[in-house]
Amino acid sequence: MRRIAFVNLKGGVGKSTCAATIAVGLAKRGRRVLLIDADAQGHATWTVTRGQGGGDVGLGEVLLRHAAAVDAIRPTPTVGLDVLPAGASLGGANIALAQELGRDTRLRSALVDVRGYDEVLIDSGPSLNLSTINVLTAATEVVAPVDAAMYAVLGLVDLRRAVEEIRDAYNPGLRLAGLVLCKARKDATSRDVERQLRETFGALVHKATIPLSAAVEAAHARGLTILDHAPKSPAATAFEALIDEVLSHGRSEETEHARRRPGTREDAA
Ligand SMILES: Nc1ncnc2c1ncn2[C@@H]1O[C@H](COP(=O)(O)OP(=O)(O)O)[C@@H](O)[C@H]1O
Ligand SMILES: [Mg+2]
Repeated sequence: MRRIAFVNLKGGVGKSTCAATIAVGLAKRGRRVLLIDADAQGHATWTVTRGQGGGDVGLGEVLLRHAAAVDAIRPTPTVGLDVLPAGASLGGANIALAQELGRDTRLRSALVDVRGYDEVLIDSGPSLNLSTINVLTAATEVVAPVDAAMYAVLGLVDLRRAVEEIRDAYNPGLRLAGLVLCKARKDATSRDVERQLRETFGALVHKATIPLSAAVEAAHARGLTILDHAPKSPAATAFEALIDEVLSHGRSEETEHARRRPGTREDAA
């Protein structure tokens, strides 16, 4: 089971948008998907629940061991997509957990009982707090959304370091699997950032870039992803291309796994 975490230690770059939109898009293609919301602000949950939110029991309660993950998971209006919302205690859990044993690996432990999904997508907040550390410890791969308007390459240095540290300490299989340019404009700055990213990170940068689009904001205001709000828009088309890439990365991983272990078909979970 792939567990794809959307992480960037900057806020406002498109993490929640990517997590929610890719989750909905994968489910629309018949995948069974779980979206875990590890940001107390709950933006991704809002977007996949038509603004309903996820209720009080969620990841915070799971990390504090007040609830089992399977009991906190909720269906969404999109067939095939479930959500584990942030829950009422996620903000406080970051502080309460600091004194507890096994604080860094609680999400990974909690997910052992969660089965039956093709992909688990995890949204995260903008700081390297205990929720984000739990996300990195539980993930199999990290995708970093990057805002084409910012000096993106510098911000990614911290993220790379965090991924390496978590890999060494807890999660040897963790890898930075992709960078996605979000909110891309046609101006010179945006093109510069894109060129710089592709020069520095090469094939790690997804071919699909998500354009800055008022329709994306309008979709979110209604508690929808762009795929439901304006499925023929350029931003929706860009997300569909991104989802193709995410799925094909998964398939090449499977092939690689089978090559390394001839005769076995193991679930990576
Ligand atoms: N392609 C886009 N075009 C226009 N607005 C966008 C786009 N992607 C995200 N946004 C908006 O930018 C803001 C930040 O995006 P968000 O996904 O919440 O970032 P993060 O989760 O990294 O903080 C939100 O208001 C969101 O609606
Ligand atoms: Mg967010």
